[in-house]
Amino acid sequence: MAVDGAKTPTPSPHRRPVCAVGHYVGSRRHGDGRRRSRARGAPLAIEVPLSGGNITNGVVRVGDTVRRPRRESSSFIERLLRHLERVGFEGAPRWLGVDEQGRDMFSYLPGRVATEDDPFSDPQVTAAGRLLRTLHDATRGSALAGEQETVCHGDAAPHNMLFGRDDLPYALIDFDLAAPGDALDDIAYAAWLYCINSSWLRSEPLDEQARRLRLFTDSYGLERRRRQQVIRALISRQLEFVRWADQCLGQRQASDRLRTHAARTFARCMRERAFVLANRAALERELR
Ligand SMILES: Nc1ncnc2c1ncn2[C@@H]1O[C@H](COP(=O)(O)OP(=O)(O)OP(=O)(O)O)[C@@H](O)[C@H]1O
Ligand SMILES: [Mg+2]
Repeated sequence: MAVDGAKTPTPSPHRRPVCAVGHYVGSRRHGDGRRRSRARGAPLAIEVPLSGGNITNGVVRVGDTVRRPRRESSSFIERLLRHLERVGFEGAPRWLGVDEQGRDMFSYLPGRVATEDDPFSDPQVTAAGRLLRTLHDATRGSALAGEQETVCHGDAAPHNMLFGRDDLPYALIDFDLAAPGDALDDIAYAAWLYCINSSWLRSEPLDEQARRLRLFTDSYGLERRRRQQVIRALISRQLEFVRWADQCLGQRQASDRLRTHAARTFARCMRERAFVLANRAALERELR
């Protein structure tokens, strides 16, 4: 079932530099600006570190682009983002090639990323559900999905979504974990992080969290039959994260930044998993 496309700012957030493997050709405005900067003796490209992520070191903004170290998954990301561009999906950055330092280049999208501790309004939960659905619809049945249902983002968390001027999530970034898979894995994970949060558990009653879960799955347009499976999938995603965090904490070579992130993730996942397990029946009832 198709659902409405995610809200996107108008005009498109994607400025239109030419995309070509290995080359970045700036827009006219960008090019003009650069020449003027040169005349004044200013640096050619100013790199502004981007915060908001926990894993990747060296993510920077350069003009209207984002530069990110290339990694194993880069060639899949490249194919995926090119596919999304081809089918007119507006909720992801464009892949713009590889720069002279061997970094992936993406279009810079305006807005802010959220944190998992933010409280989310109903319109934000709704927009996130719709955005995820449009992503899944854009790759369902494609060669990239292979034998699987669709291509999953793999980390469709609020901190990997850009919130636009209306403060609604309108685009996904950070496709490092994207892979063919079962849409339910993405749905359960995003539903968890948008709807069940231990920083609100003390202040919000269970039925409010359950209602938000229902809102998320309805906004996604999830069929009734599959809504029954959301909590099971959510619990197993939580377990994956507990294991991942535990593994990171056991690695001697893990950076301090990763360790801090893993410790927080571990504590949070344990709390939220305990909450979901204790209230599983009530949450499942709401999703019927
Ligand atoms: N295309 C983009 N447009 C605008 N901002 C971006 C874009 N890509 C990345 N950013 C910014 O850079 C930050 C870090 O990027 P990214 O999420 O890719 O890093 P990460 O460390 O791999 O994240 P995570 O902790 O989710 O694994 C983001 O939180 C966001 O603020
Ligand atoms: Mg990220």
